[in-house]
Amino acid sequence: MQPSVKSKGPADAFGRPLLNLRISVTDRCNLRCRYCMPEEEYGWLPREELLSFEEISELAGIFTEVGIEKVRLTGGEPLLRKDLPVLVRMLAQNPRIRDLALTTNGVLLAGQAQALWDAGLHRLTVSLDTLRPDRFLVLTRRDAHAPVLRGIEAARQAGFRALKIDAVVVRGANEDELADLIEFGKRAGAEVRFIEYMDVGGATQWSRSKVVSRAEMLDALSRRYGRIEPVVEDCSAPAERFLLADGTVFGIIASTTTPFCRRCDRSRLTADGIWYLCLYAQKGTDLRKSLRSGATRDEIKSLIVSQWTKRTDRGAEERKDLPSRGVLVGIQQLRQDPHLEMHTRGG
Ligand code: GTP
Ligand code: 5AD
Ligand code: SF4
Repeated sequence: MQPSVKSKGPADAFGRPLLNLRISVTDRCNLRCRYCMPEEEYGWLPREELLSFEEISELAGIFTEVGIEKVRLTGGEPLLRKDLPVLVRMLAQNPRIRDLALTTNGVLLAGQAQALWDAGLHRLTVSLDTLRPDRFLVLTRRDAHAPVLRGIEAARQAGFRALKIDAVVVRGANEDELADLIEFGKRAGAEVRFIEYMDVGGATQWSRSKVVSRAEMLDALSRRYGRIEPVVEDCSAPAERFLLADGTVFGIIASTTTPFCRRCDRSRLTADGIWYLCLYAQKGTDLRKSLRSGATRDEIKSLIVSQWTKRTDRGAEERKDLPSRGVLVGIQQLRQDPHLEMHTRGG
């Protein structure tokens, strides 16, 4: 793989900079999306191991000193973490974080949107896979469609402009709703992004046949909208953006059929302080241990730089090259280590 991006902070083994940190603030979730949490029961991270807001803010501060500029709060469902706006305010005070965003399923958003905006959150992404309440119930196993719609509305009213709506497209579940979601996005003032179903940890019902590829999505959408132009831009974001004739922009995240590993500048911190260099990584670095055993900021910085410099992860590309592809992590292994779950390491 050729280095593709110029680095400000440390570059990894493929020349990729460390710019983007996704911080999971809880592994718990109030939905049970079938592509993420299809099982009946889960084991949760022990509460005493969760990082406090002070610890998260301290680690985020250290990360920004080695190059991180973009921080996204994730879960599980991040709004389940008590007093989240307090953490947002702490992070928003760090001038090195030039982009502070949050990904939520929207269920609790109506009650928190204003506080999040007031605390200094810059951007919001809401996950919404269907516009039909009955389908929502089947897909997420919770009857919470109306609160999500209210949450999206409340976010706009609170002041959020750069709203995004993420929809994971799964064959047989919602692939007939692409245009409806785009129309909904227009009305809600949000950019809709379609995500290919990924074989990440936790996706124990994944199969190749359920993946609706970017090509198929574009095909279906051009039948409805006519000509679709790619938006040409140079950035590391996973979404490729497209333009409809009426000026509407939408995105596709084709992580399964067209991985973006060669541009990937992101890493993730779990709620209990394990730092992963890839969504697909099986092992991470325990920064909670360093922090709680009294390591200095410089020691933690060196640890981060040394790990990043050695990084050779290109999980999605490796998966793509496999001759046959089943689920990434079996249920037994997931039960032994919840860190392998997508809902633990942030979507
Ligand atoms: P912005 O471009 O900053 O708005 O953020 P984003 O596109 O990273 O947003 P978001 O957190 O909503 O991520 C969207 C989806 O992209 C996730 O839900 C995943 O499906 C996919 N994705 C995010 N991070 C990774 C990653 O590290 N690797 C892969 N392969 N896919 C990812
Ligand atoms: N495939 C694609 N995206 C997934 N997410 C969770 N599981 C999967 C999967 N198997 C992402 C979705 C969701 C976010 C929180 O995590 O984008 O909206
Ligand atoms: Fe759904 Fe996100 Fe919860 Fe997973 S973490 S079950 S994708 S809402």
